Amino acid sequence: MGETVPVFQRVAIIGLGLIGGSLASAIKKHNLAAMVVGADQSQSDLAYALKNRVIDEAAASVAEAVKDADLVVIAVPVRATEAVLRQVKPALGAQALLTDVGSTKASFVNAVRSVFGERLPACIPGHPIAGSEKSGIAAANPELFARHKVILTPPDDVDATQLARLSALWEGCGARVLTMAVEYHDEVLAATSHLPHLIAFSLVDTLAGEDENLDIFRYAAGGFRDFTRIAASDPVMWHDIFLSNQQAVLRVIDHFTHDLDQLRTAIAEQDGATLLRVFSRAKAAREHFSKMLSGQAYVTTNKQKQVTFNVQPGGKMTGDIRVPGDKSMSHRSIMLGALADGITEVNGFLEGEDSLATLQAFRDMGVTIEGPDNGFVRIRGVGIDGLQAPRGPLYLGNSGTAMRLFSGLLAPQAFDSELTGDASLTGRPMGRVADPLRSMGAIIETAEGGRPPLKIKGGQVLEGFHYDMPIASAQVKSCLLLAGLFAKGTTSVTEPAPTRDHTERMLAGFGYPVKRTGATASVVGGGRLAASAIDVPADISSAAFFLVAATIAEGSDLTLRHVGMNPTRVGVINILRLMGANIEVSNEREAGGEPVADLRVTSAKLHGIDIPEAEVPLAIDEFPVLFIAATCAEGKTVLRGAEELRVKESDRIQVMADGLEQLGVHTTVTPDGIEIVGGQTLGGGTVDSHGDHRIAMAFAMAALRAEGAITITDCANVATSFPGFVELAQQTGIHITAEGA
Ligand code: S3P
Repeated sequence: MGETVPVFQRVAIIGLGLIGGSLASAIKKHNLAAMVVGADQSQSDLAYALKNRVIDEAAASVAEAVKDADLVVIAVPVRATEAVLRQVKPALGAQALLTDVGSTKASFVNAVRSVFGERLPACIPGHPIAGSEKSGIAAANPELFARHKVILTPPDDVDATQLARLSALWEGCGARVLTMAVEYHDEVLAATSHLPHLIAFSLVDTLAGEDENLDIFRYAAGGFRDFTRIAASDPVMWHDIFLSNQQAVLRVIDHFTHDLDQLRTAIAEQDGATLLRVFSRAKAAREHFSKMLSGQAYVTTNKQKQVTFNVQPGGKMTGDIRVPGDKSMSHRSIMLGALADGITEVNGFLEGEDSLATLQAFRDMGVTIEGPDNGFVRIRGVGIDGLQAPRGPLYLGNSGTAMRLFSGLLAPQAFDSELTGDASLTGRPMGRVADPLRSMGAIIETAEGGRPPLKIKGGQVLEGFHYDMPIASAQVKSCLLLAGLFAKGTTSVTEPAPTRDHTERMLAGFGYPVKRTGATASVVGGGRLAASAIDVPADISSAAFFLVAATIAEGSDLTLRHVGMNPTRVGVINILRLMGANIEVSNEREAGGEPVADLRVTSAKLHGIDIPEAEVPLAIDEFPVLFIAATCAEGKTVLRGAEELRVKESDRIQVMADGLEQLGVHTTVTPDGIEIVGGQTLGGGTVDSHGDHRIAMAFAMAALRAEGAITITDCANVATSFPGFVELAQQTGIHITAEGA
């Protein structure tokens, strides 16, 4: 790192144990202070520190160390803090900043208050989340904090410059600085650090006291060693921590004891289902530990990462492929499977981030779900009334479908719930579901403008009602039908134009009657669902990219297998055929209540059309790639009546128009659509996908006809709907690579 300007002039470190000593040596190593002075009650430790150049100067007393220091770090055992602060007080300069490194923060703040009274010094408590089961100055290590977190708990009226300096000091030691409130820190640490230490101490002590203890330790395998490593930590320090963070630790011990007791009962009663539920939920949580800590869905790709697609121009599409499972059906299979009586087995489940977020949310509500394993999921249904209160907000990632369907399912539950999502989802309108649900008697709070998070009050009895949907939305329809399962009487929804009917079909597949009269679907509340087997077909929305690609790239011949051909989803095929595409449908059959078929597509010369408005809801997710088809067609293509595109994962009309403009293609944007004159030169360039998976994939296809390379930024969200997209695109003939994936 090699800072040249020290952040502080004179840093006094009071207490040269593992943490104090390591901090002193890190400050010196990275030249973060002009001078590091140490004080310690052990003369031999002090001498050791001086001799080994951990510090520049050894002070004879605390007061001597503190005098003229602009930063004073208290690094003594938590319970010794108050006595040390009394020695600090008389020598502490008016401009000096006081901090500490203890594991509990309320106790430090209280000690400062009780010692300094009204005239509080500038003080920012700190806690490096680093350590070792070793203790003492001999274990001091200047790299101890590198790549570790340091939590600072500044007061509300903190001096921003002081906070920036202290942060810079820790960052200079290689640490990542987080700030949070004192109370929150103590709660979090009680759960994540203090409780595990307590359990490790207690377990080793219990086993060491058993008669066969020698044998127990002799045969102890790696698991025991891993699990109990922290039981070798410093007893004095930990005894201090537990006594100082008493209330938060007691709360988490009670919680743990209660859960442990439940496991004991499950074992005593041979209740395998409970064991399986708890263990599989824990396994998923552990496997996706870091995701869980950062409040993301438990998924395999890292959204924090910036993924960029680089696509070389040209190519033709060939091969015989199956794209991943249908997203809409995957969500619904988990929802209905969870609410059913019995075990539902799903094949072809989409292992994308959106549907995985739904799966995890049901685990969080007490449902045992095994898998997914290569598209196979086994759901142990809890029955229509069997969901349990989740422990915290349900995080639904990027998925509008999940949030809208969940709101219908959760509004009638006995427990409160909160639905959250990523930045894109947080900007999307939820009033369209919250308002009609409120008419049924639900109590739902949204953020400003009807945006997420949704806070749903449990314990409400919903009344069935009739809703004339102002917009053609399958999500709104599904939300209300799902709420209707729990409502009194009949819930009916009339749609202004046909929208996807997977909810109705799947409910029927689970033995729940859904009545259809013209444009109205209705359910009567109070029934039950019977577990079912579900075969999820390949997603036509994912197939759409390849349909367009093979159409626009000369010399292509591509087969797509087992594609879902629900009549409410085939708008993309209808539109492409109107434009002149060659799409052969064969092997038409039914799988799990849904029509499926194989599709063969060969290159064709397209011509522009006025897209029939009736097709819009049937192709609602496919427009980004249809705009690429229109760009490659001869003549003008006009889209109208598609204002819904503006509130998808991005404003798909504007974002597509902007991207095309970057590639040299001019379009005319209207409030509810776009006009694209085909045949313009499609150049190379850089396009921002705005984190919208379908925009990213659409522009990847455009490269087949572009004159230069296309770079597409912000593509990590392709994983929400199409895991393995890049590999499949490469395999079929697109010259694409992904950076940062
Ligand atoms: C979906 C419905 C559509 C679609 C979305 C999935 C569903 O949304 O855009 O990707 O699974 O019900 P709207 O019905 O709100 O248009």
